[in-house]
Amino acid sequence: MIKQAIIPLAGLGTRLLPLTSVFAKELLPINGKPGIEYILDECVQAGIKEIIFIISDKKKMIKDYFYNDRFYKKIIKKKKDKRILEEYRKILKYKKMIKFVYQNKPLGTGDAVLKTKRFIKDKFFLMLLPDDLIIKKNCSKSMMAIHKKHNSSVMASMIVNKKDVSRWGIYKLSKKISKNDFIIKDVVEKPSIKNSPSNRAVIGRYILPRKIFSKLLKLKPGKGGEIHITDAIQSLIKEKEKFIAHNFLGKYLDCGSMNGYIKSSLEISKLWNYAW
Ligand code: G1P
Repeated sequence: MIKQAIIPLAGLGTRLLPLTSVFAKELLPINGKPGIEYILDECVQAGIKEIIFIISDKKKMIKDYFYNDRFYKKIIKKKKDKRILEEYRKILKYKKMIKFVYQNKPLGTGDAVLKTKRFIKDKFFLMLLPDDLIIKKNCSKSMMAIHKKHNSSVMASMIVNKKDVSRWGIYKLSKKISKNDFIIKDVVEKPSIKNSPSNRAVIGRYILPRKIFSKLLKLKPGKGGEIHITDAIQSLIKEKEKFIAHNFLGKYLDCGSMNGYIKSSLEISKLWNYAW
């Protein structure tokens, strides 16, 4: 059973400038709730017990959000507002589950993962990328069931337009194991259209083995001078580590871009269970 999750939150959020020059994108409200809360809800509902946030000095606001409960307490005594009370309880619960580590230089997702090395106790852990919201079906929960069945690493996946492959990690499959699950043969970070092995993209949910840390320690910077988690995964696959791609059933929302962020709010406001 996977108990720990990590969430890289030190990204600069340049796609959402100028908002992100003063604000952490993960706290921007989507239908009245910070985006990061949807991610936390997903992994806690999937059974995760401990979450490691990788933040930076510039993103301390995220820590403050979970450490403001004294302020809340005073307000709650005066105002008997059901919504604020529920949020207060949730923040208290999540605060107890979250640990913070720092990545002050934006050296890539692989480097962010490395910062959590000393905290990861079990053989496998979950990683969620906060720009990728998946609604209507708990993707982490489905991936954990696949992991349990096959005792392997798992990544969320989706078919994308051929013209967009250079935005994603793209994988090549070796074999179909069920309607929505495939064994991965190779994965490449943001290939050109010409060199892309397919149009099957990796989306921001990963069940990774602890042995990825030793790969990351040896990895040289890849595309754009960053340390990519995809490159470490590629080298594990080459050594016959089993990785399964899971075509998730929920709806994908990219809230790291302005268009996607606006669309996320509209889509989520249509779901009655997310409304206040
Ligand atoms: C990261 C990964 C990429 C993956 C994507 C999913 O890219 O490096 O392989 O396909 O997340 O959202 P980023 O969004 O950080 O550019």
